[in-house]
Amino acid sequence: MTRTPTTQDKFSFGLWTVGWTGRDQFGEASRPALDPWDYLGPLAEAGAWGITFHDDDVVPFGTPDAEREQILTRFKQVADDAGLVIEMVTTNLFSHPVFKDGGFTANDRGVRRFALRKVLRNVDLAAELGAATFVMWGGREGAEYDGAKDVNAALDRYREGIDTVAAYIKEKGYDLRIALEPKPNEPRGDIFLPTVGHALGFIAELEHGDIVGLNPEVGHEQMAALNYTHGIAQALWSGKLFHIDLNGQRSIKYDQDLVFGHGDLLSAFFTVDLLENGFPSGGPTYDGPRHFDYKPSRTEGFDGVWASARANMETYLLLAEKARAYRADPRVQEAFAASGVLELSAPTLSDGESIADLLADRGAFEDYDADAAGARETNFVELNQLAIAHLVG
Ligand code: GCO
Ligand code: MN
Ligand code: MN
Repeated sequence: MTRTPTTQDKFSFGLWTVGWTGRDQFGEASRPALDPWDYLGPLAEAGAWGITFHDDDVVPFGTPDAEREQILTRFKQVADDAGLVIEMVTTNLFSHPVFKDGGFTANDRGVRRFALRKVLRNVDLAAELGAATFVMWGGREGAEYDGAKDVNAALDRYREGIDTVAAYIKEKGYDLRIALEPKPNEPRGDIFLPTVGHALGFIAELEHGDIVGLNPEVGHEQMAALNYTHGIAQALWSGKLFHIDLNGQRSIKYDQDLVFGHGDLLSAFFTVDLLENGFPSGGPTYDGPRHFDYKPSRTEGFDGVWASARANMETYLLLAEKARAYRADPRVQEAFAASGVLELSAPTLSDGESIADLLADRGAFEDYDADAAGARETNFVELNQLAIAHLVG
């Protein structure tokens, strides 16, 4: 057992995670749904610091305004009483059949305008509740058939939608940033902005991209056979790691949403190492919420729901301990040096060196012993084994 989580750990959970009733493509719910506020006390007791939700997780779609207000007031009150921060709010643009062909990229213009209104109303709510991040996961933005979607127009409309939301946030003076969440597929056959890289390229085309970043999810990158740690590393490097969704995934298949670390554990170790200890030679760091987006398996009852919520935090804390010991181990520091890991931060050209200087440097090319460099030991395997030794030792 590791230490109990505290609010300093900034662990947060989507209401839809512990609130998932187990309904899937093949079966009915295996657990009853509680009222939204009933999840808050147990989460806080387990050590969570924050809570996040989709509009429809708290207020069912189509609820009249007066009732909506009452529900939200009660929810906020219970969150406050439990000491939970509402750190992120997101919009459900995927459940109702109106969004079957997308929200911002639906072929039907009326649907796009409706989606935008639903999002703008939710932006007001996010700001009112003091959330810092507004996640946008476009699960229905995509297609099953290549001929069914003009991708050029879809990306224009996606940009128009995100820029409109960002412009609204600025106009209102809200202290809120948008975090796009990439996913390759499911529920759509192919989703637009399928990976961290696609989303970074998209953000660069926005007018208001300064307040738009990313919320990468472990399982989503791994569904595309990509390296999650490298994904968040590039997002950090770009100044765009606004939020994270931690969970577990075992290889390329449907979105499993397992407990963090219950998928690729070694990858989870390096993810935590990066989040807690930063890059080996310094650089940008992440100090945002450690947000879990997982699903308590359908096989579990409520005991299992709370056990799995605790498991996410425990796994994270165990890995954080291991990662700290790994970095502090003199053998690791020596292995870093022997492997040239720290040498990579030295600029390839010297300070003030011109291209002409480089071309004139015979030592860099004509007299360079490429064979000797090619024969140099890297010690990468030894270094990796030290990580394994710390992880399972
Ligand atoms: C998924 C996604 C969602 C989003 C959520 C927040 O695969 O279903 O990960 O859970 O994170 O909708 O916008
Ligand atoms: Mn997911
Ligand atoms: Mn997610």
